[in-house]
Amino acid sequence: MTLTLPKWFDLHTHFRQGPAMASYVQAHLDMGCAGALAMPNTQPPVSRISGAAESDGWSIESYSAELRAAGAHAFEQLIVPLYLTRQTTAFMIREGAASGLLRACKYYPPHGTTNSEHGMPMDNLIGGEVFRAMEEYGIVLCIHGEQHALSGPDYIDAQQNAETRFYTERMPRLLAAHPKLRIVCEHITTRTAAEFVVGAPEHVGATITPQHLLYTLGHLIQGLKYHLYCLPIVKFQDDRAALRAAVTKAGQSKFFAGTDSAPHTTKATACGCAAGCFTGGCAPQLYAMAFEEAGVDLASADGEDLFERFLSLNGPAFYGFPASTQQFQMEKAASKSVLLETPAGPVTPLPLGMGIELTWRMVR
Ligand code: NCD
Ligand code: ZN
Repeated sequence: MTLTLPKWFDLHTHFRQGPAMASYVQAHLDMGCAGALAMPNTQPPVSRISGAAESDGWSIESYSAELRAAGAHAFEQLIVPLYLTRQTTAFMIREGAASGLLRACKYYPPHGTTNSEHGMPMDNLIGGEVFRAMEEYGIVLCIHGEQHALSGPDYIDAQQNAETRFYTERMPRLLAAHPKLRIVCEHITTRTAAEFVVGAPEHVGATITPQHLLYTLGHLIQGLKYHLYCLPIVKFQDDRAALRAAVTKAGQSKFFAGTDSAPHTTKATACGCAAGCFTGGCAPQLYAMAFEEAGVDLASADGEDLFERFLSLNGPAFYGFPASTQQFQMEKAASKSVLLETPAGPVTPLPLGMGIELTWRMVR
């Protein structure tokens, strides 16, 4: 069986900074990816719109130029969101929108994930002039939806967790205060978040990663498979079922691919584990495996349509750019993912870290 699809867009990924960037961008090009939204949690963060990079931050302009020089010029689309920090002003939003450089902003819960220490709490942003300006200019708000500063059982327990808290306590307030704000609920992991997105207006969409469609907390904990450790953390079977149901609903237009591929050259250390799964080179294959596990027959026209919407069509439609007119092919055949050697050191792709073979292979 061979699948021929329009090239797809990864609407949440991490290309980092420095000499390894080119390896990460190439891994995306190698998997039929036509464009990406490259996250701004670099070191230093992408916290300005234009001008040269400075020691405390890149601008969207300077980081995009760095990415293009590292191979991203081959993409049809490259979106770099502005990291919302204490320095972000409504003037920057207006200036950014007018220049065309600003298409999205990223909310990070302070200290909630890798390089998120520059983030502003959601409570400080709701009702403020930055969100008002974004609303007015149609700038997309990309949200890492976890309530920050929770610990122990408040952070995660059987009945609730940082994400469910955020989607029940913060998101309704955000939507009420900014009814026109275009929002992407990124890398959602719970039934609560999936149902929130389904019930929200059309201009609220969501990305889902391959790991959250494939795995649950049991997979992470049994044998402590730390390559599966990413944030938000994988959840329970009922949550995974809700995510699978969301992406496999006929005609759905709100859910799309955003891998959250997050390379770390050092994952586990003596004092903990870096959060982030690397799925460069293997994301469409993993997504296909997840759709099949969810009961979709990718050989059928209906199955292919569902997969194509999620991978190649819904994301561009939500962000307002054309789907790719180029194609890529995958075939149903076993393949192994291998260590990615980069100038910063080797990076382990998720399937290798999980000890699994892919059941799909890219056709080149
Ligand atoms: C991401 C990273 O490594 O930059 N890690 C992760 O666990 N997903 C940051 C993020 O998107 O949360
Ligand atoms: Zn991410």
